[in-house]
Amino acid sequence: MSIQYDNQTHLFSLQTAHSLYQMKVDSADVLLHLYYGQKTDEDMSYRVRYADRGFSGNPYEQRRNRGYSLDTLPQEYSGSGVGDYRLPAVQAVSENGSRSVDFRFMDYRIDKGRQPLRSLPYVRESEETETLTVTLRDSVIGLDAQLIYHVYPAQDVIVRSVRLVNTGRQELSVEKAASACLDFLYGNYDVIHFHGRHCMERMPERLPLPRGTTSFGSRRGMSSHQSNPFVILCDHLATESTGDCYGCMLMYSGNHLEEMEVNQTGSTRLVSGIHPDGFSWKLAPGESFETPEALLSYSADGLNGLSRHYHDIIRQQVIAPRWQQEKRPVLINSWEAAYFDFDAEKILRFARSATELGVEMLVLDDGWFGKRNDDTTSLGDWTVNEAKLGCSMRELSDQIHAMGLKFGLWFEPEMVNEDSDLFRAHPEWALCDPDRKPMLGRNQMVLDMSRQDVVDYLFDAICAVLDSARIEYIKWDFNRSVANCYSKALPASRQGEVAHRFMLGTYQLLERVLKRYPDLMIEGCSGGGGRFDAGMLFYCPQIWCSDDTDAVERLEIQRGTSYGYPVSTMGAHVSASPNHQTGRTTPIHTRGIVAQSGTFGYELNPALLNAEEKEQVKEQIRAYHRYEHLIAHGSYYRLTELNAEKDHEAWMFVSPDRKEALVNLVCTHVRANGPFPYVRLCGLDPRKKYRLAGSEEIYTGAALMYGGYAAPQLAGDYPAMQLHFISEGDA
Ligand code: GLA
Repeated sequence: MSIQYDNQTHLFSLQTAHSLYQMKVDSADVLLHLYYGQKTDEDMSYRVRYADRGFSGNPYEQRRNRGYSLDTLPQEYSGSGVGDYRLPAVQAVSENGSRSVDFRFMDYRIDKGRQPLRSLPYVRESEETETLTVTLRDSVIGLDAQLIYHVYPAQDVIVRSVRLVNTGRQELSVEKAASACLDFLYGNYDVIHFHGRHCMERMPERLPLPRGTTSFGSRRGMSSHQSNPFVILCDHLATESTGDCYGCMLMYSGNHLEEMEVNQTGSTRLVSGIHPDGFSWKLAPGESFETPEALLSYSADGLNGLSRHYHDIIRQQVIAPRWQQEKRPVLINSWEAAYFDFDAEKILRFARSATELGVEMLVLDDGWFGKRNDDTTSLGDWTVNEAKLGCSMRELSDQIHAMGLKFGLWFEPEMVNEDSDLFRAHPEWALCDPDRKPMLGRNQMVLDMSRQDVVDYLFDAICAVLDSARIEYIKWDFNRSVANCYSKALPASRQGEVAHRFMLGTYQLLERVLKRYPDLMIEGCSGGGGRFDAGMLFYCPQIWCSDDTDAVERLEIQRGTSYGYPVSTMGAHVSASPNHQTGRTTPIHTRGIVAQSGTFGYELNPALLNAEEKEQVKEQIRAYHRYEHLIAHGSYYRLTELNAEKDHEAWMFVSPDRKEALVNLVCTHVRANGPFPYVRLCGLDPRKKYRLAGSEEIYTGAALMYGGYAAPQLAGDYPAMQLHFISEGDA
């Protein structure tokens, strides 16, 4: 039993393999958060102290007890306007204009397994999953908050969400509905968040939390390049391998907000959920609203420990079972090889040279539909441009399959160009305020995915293409931020619902396409990694990590992404050198090693490779197959510290049985007469002997982990090396 309730002490204890999460119903029926941390059987109620603090008032029923204040007690899910002046988890407006929400405990239930969410992606049930539902009620306005906790013991993850139910007789307007609220009684925490921009996503920034509120989030209608819906709070002294770390990952691809507040007494609150800016949701009597899920995890083993929990839960319970063990095809994508300039002949030439190299799938990117020869036209018109191709999609795909390759196609379903038949027929299908001109991004507008007729049109349009030819994969793109988020299908009072309804429409479309084509692999994309989140990963087993394909930049992008997401989800390709985004020249060996730590592929014209490069590509693909079980299924460790001064980046994979490891090192700054790059490995068995493949060198796991591997000094531009260690038995 991973969830227990003690009738005597009113304690709820949620246990994972290495953590305990505890809360308690106190004598005033307030649900207090007691503890989240290392596993123990203790009753942690003793940690809550009561003190009369000026300007922290008392609820009416506690008026004789000046030490009792909602403002100072650790809350499990904070209300608003009733004396807890810290961040609210929920905000709602009653018909009389009141904004107060004050929750008290009602009841609870514990169930084996879990129910899926009704309309949002969710963490799939494991054999061990148990669910706790605690109902809190504000009986004055008639609002219930059902706090839902799914425990995943093996992965050390607790998944939280909230269902708000209108149990009263008046209409309520919900203005904020966080997925999780987590109070820390004390601690000196740093926050790590993942900011960025197009072509430089998920840059980790680590900052000591100041007093007051710190927040990160997105109002772009997408999880965004600029701020990933994932934050880490870690002890100020935590490193990659030591120290307390807490993660909070929102399983959502739309607007989101992560807020942290350090209050007057030094306690910290973390609140995460849909961004309340611009959000409001009408809740009529009897109606309910479900929030996205938040994946919480705790590790005492530093940032690498925390990342492994997220990698495990995503690989085992978020990615669809269809793709969990499936080896992903090594692909070649036409974008950087041809951009919009291609016909079937050219694509077939790429395919022919790619087959010789060992590539397994060809992906035809943007430009195959409507009249699209640049980015000004045709989004929305998902009809094959046979005049441009010179043949039908079936003929093209048949010829590609005849070469032994799979075939994939690019789509950008949620968008429309002004210059398109779709927009001419249905201008009301684009999001736009009445009487305003739309804000354009890459010449395009955003379709109103909150409308069922739009979702139905897109479903039919995508199915028509998928039915016309053999297509095993689609790249599902999203190439601008949302603005003018106004739906012509909803009344004025419901415009605050559009951004969330947009996400529900997108999820519904993905769900329906996958239901009809269960073997279709969808790679998520949004100008690279603008929608790299657990919500999209529920549908898409891999996501194009960034439009920046420069191997040296990718070291940072893929490292940043790895804090929350496993490398088996990161689309990574070898592209041409000099690189198209930065102009940097890097050796093909280095480009291969970096792209191999992802779902491997190529994004270049294979005909332009010289004979030696072609041999290297063949060897890279062979190596990828050799190491795929380690890369996709092994434990991943970052071997360099985040903010350390360093001339190299190193990371490794260890097999679950610890008999094999793959170490990668890229030198980012070669120095004359410089220091040796010593690398301390992780995750090995200290008592085993490991041989370095292709050499006579044998080390114990202890030597490699405690003493470190003494790598040679490398020379040249961005040199790299890859080391494969195999266990030779016990030392
Ligand atoms: C986005 C993607 C690219 C490519 C282009 C096509 O930018 O991230 O990989 O597909 O769109 O327009």
